Formats: sequence, structure tokens, C-alpha cells
Amino acid sequence: MDKIKISGGRRLQGKIAIGGAKNAALPLMAASLLTDDTLSLSNLPHLDDITSMAKLLTQHGVSLHLNGHAPNGGHTGRVLDMRAKEIVSTTAPYDLVRKMRASVLVLGPLVARCGVARVSLPGGCAIGNRPVDLHLKALEAMGAEIILTEGYIEARAPEGLKGGHILFPQVTVGGTENALMAASLADGVTVIANAAREPEIIDLAHCLVAMGAEIDGIGTDTLKVTGKPRLHGAEYSVVPDRIETGTYAIAAAITGGEIELTGTRIDLVEALIDVMRMAGVVVEATDTGMIVRGNRATLKGVDVMTEPFPGFPTDMQAQFMALMAVANGASMITETIFENRFMHVPELSRMGTDINVHGRSAIVRGVSKLSGAEVMATDLRASVSMVLAGLAAEGETVISRVYHLDRGYERLEEKLAACGAQIERVKG
Ligand code: UD1
Repeated sequence: MDKIKISGGRRLQGKIAIGGAKNAALPLMAASLLTDDTLSLSNLPHLDDITSMAKLLTQHGVSLHLNGHAPNGGHTGRVLDMRAKEIVSTTAPYDLVRKMRASVLVLGPLVARCGVARVSLPGGCAIGNRPVDLHLKALEAMGAEIILTEGYIEARAPEGLKGGHILFPQVTVGGTENALMAASLADGVTVIANAAREPEIIDLAHCLVAMGAEIDGIGTDTLKVTGKPRLHGAEYSVVPDRIETGTYAIAAAITGGEIELTGTRIDLVEALIDVMRMAGVVVEATDTGMIVRGNRATLKGVDVMTEPFPGFPTDMQAQFMALMAVANGASMITETIFENRFMHVPELSRMGTDINVHGRSAIVRGVSKLSGAEVMATDLRASVSMVLAGLAAEGETVISRVYHLDRGYERLEEKLAACGAQIERVKG
């Protein structure tokens, strides 16, 4: 298994190009199941999770073609054509779903188009229980009959889905995405109340509209979907990755450096930028993104609480904690979205942080220096928090189990090294 080795303590300076959002690309790819025409996606990131979704779609019968050339071997500048002319299998098997929870996003499109779907239950996950009950209730509200058997979700709607009223008792990104895709092909009007408003939901809604769907209230917490008997193909460009943006913004701040982030948008990361500014980090908007300037001497602790968008994203909690670990003063970080999302704390403590967890909150007392250590990646965002801490630490940090990082960060070492980081991948 590969490791990442970092010699920390260097001030980062340079430019980083931000890619398309993984969490937008995955539902957009699943949306290709809704039509027998071609859906073409550009600005797709080159990540393991995208490959996993591509494999899953292929076995459902989707033909995929990556067009164009990319000098660096990634997906930048390339366009992925996906055509689900015929669905050859409505089953999403365990071995594919267990690798990536977002596989459950094929459930809504499959049952909407084929009247039947069989999707493995995703099972355990490092950051908490993460059930899919709300996805299922949403489909039931559209007339699907659902049974759980032999570890699989079986959804049936032989006469097709009908418009329904869905009220999510809790904001769910994936649940809203499944409901939105299914409602686009349902017969009649579906209202989704307390819908998630994340930029990735807005991206999906806009793509569905480009495919012929009728959706009112995009960007609000109430979506009204007027179902269509069929959708058609479209060309769509994936929204920039706000979590990649935020992660590199913190890389600038934690090293007291200056990084220009291009190909992104400041409005995608407003809640994060607000607290970073409160902590003393300078962030200036540019035409293509932003410039982030950090100063370790004046960095100070601020409190944050994770919330659904437009609040502070849970996917930035671990990275922000790494930053607060070297700030002057204390910070209280409260996680309200996922239970068990402080697994980075014991690993960070190996690098000399002073963090105490009390239930859903962590008290982070800033320390003047961190020291490199051997640490282990536990989940995607937790692992990148160790990279960030490693960049700020004195000495060498070695992070194992970096396959977590490869699920969500494209060419991370290359991007950081181009800004002066001493970072390398050790193949193993
Ligand atoms: C998505 C993101 C993930 C991010 C999360 C919250 C993708 C591929 N993943 O995950 O990176 O951290 O949003 O912003 O886009 N819940 C239920 N029942 C359900 C569904 C969710 O109880 O049926 C709970 C979850 O356990 C969690 C909360 O609702 O506590 C929010 O989860 P949700 O928004 O659904 O997260 P995901 O879509 O899985």
C-alpha cells in the first residue's frame, strides 16, 4: 500500500488548479441512467471514486467513452460520454457498492426508468452509521414498494413512479439527489421539502433541467419537480470542488504561505472563508478563484460547528481542526452531521496537537509547533488533515493507507509540490 512522505515546515507559495467536484460528478454520472441518450460530462475529476462509479454504470449497461486528450494523464480537458441505451442489469452488487457508498445513487434512477432496482445495502462506514432509510422513504412517497432482503434493497414500481410529497426530517444530500433524479421521470408533481441545498445538488438539478426535467426552487430547500415521460441527453460541466478548494486554502494558511486557487469560486466556500478570515487568514477573490495568504504568528482560534450548506461543511472539519491545532488560543469544533467523525484526533495527537473530544465537540488548544510522525489515514477528509498537519510540522511525517486520499484528491502530491512542499508518494 502506498504511503505519503512529507518533510514539513515549508511556506507554500504558488498556484493550484482546482478540479471538478467528486461529490457532484458521482450523482451526475448516475443521472446518465435516466435517459437512453448520451450525457456528456466535462470538468470531471480523475479519482478512484469516479472509476468505481464508472464500473458500476458499465455493469448496468452504460457505455462510456472518454474523449479528447489530457497532457497529464488525468481527465482535465476531457469529456466523458455516457450512454445508457439499454439497461442490462438493475442490480448494483455488493462488491461494487461496499467500496463506495455513493453507489446507492443508482437506486432512484434505476427504479424510475426500469420500475425495478436491486441495490446492495452500503453497510458500515468509518464515519458513523450512515443509514439510507431516508432515500427509501422518499422513493416510497413516490409509490415504490421497498423490501430489504439478503443485504439488498429491492425497489419496485411496476406501473412507474408517481409524483409525491417528500418531507425529509433531516437534511440529506444523497437522499435529496436520489429523490430528485427519481422525481424527474415520475408521473406527476413531486415536492421535496427540507431538501439539501449543497452546490452539488444545484449542479445535479441544472444538469437534469438540461436533460429536459422541470424543476422549480433550485437552490432553495423546497424543490418542485414536474415529472417527464422521458429525458434526453445533454452536455454539462461539473461544478468546481469546494472541498478541494477549502483544503488547499488551509494548506496556504497552515504553512503561513500564499496560494492562488484557480478554476474555482469563492461563493462555494463562503462559510469556510468567513471563519478563516476570523482566524486571521487573508482571502481575496479573483476572477478565477481566490488568493489565500496565511500568517502563523497572527493565526487565532475560532469556534465552528458543522451544518448543512450554506453552513460550515462537515467535509472541511478535519482540515480546519489541523489549522486550529497551530493557532494562538483555543477553538471549539462541533460536528453535528456525522457521529464518529473525530478519528483524525488520535492520529493528529501523535504529531503533538492538544485536542480533547467531548461528545460531538472537540476543544483544540493551539500549540506553537507540531512534529512529524507516522500516522494512518482513516477516511478521506481525515487523511488530508494529516497531510496538512504534516506540511506545518517540523520533521518527517509518513501517512499510510493513502488509498483514502486517492478517492477524493487528484494529484495531491504534485499540486502541493508545485507550491514548494516536500512531499512524495512511496509506492508499496
Ligand atoms: C454526502 C457527501 C459527503 C458529505 C455529506 C454531508 C457525497 C458522495 N457525499 O454524503 O461527502 O460529508 O453529504 O455533507 O456527496 N442520514 C440518515 N438517513 C439517510 C441518509 C442520511 O439518517 O437515509 C443521515 C446521515 O447518517 C448523516 C446525515 O443524515 O448523519 C447527513 O447525511 P447525507 O447528507 O445523506 O450524507 P451523504 O449523502 O451520505
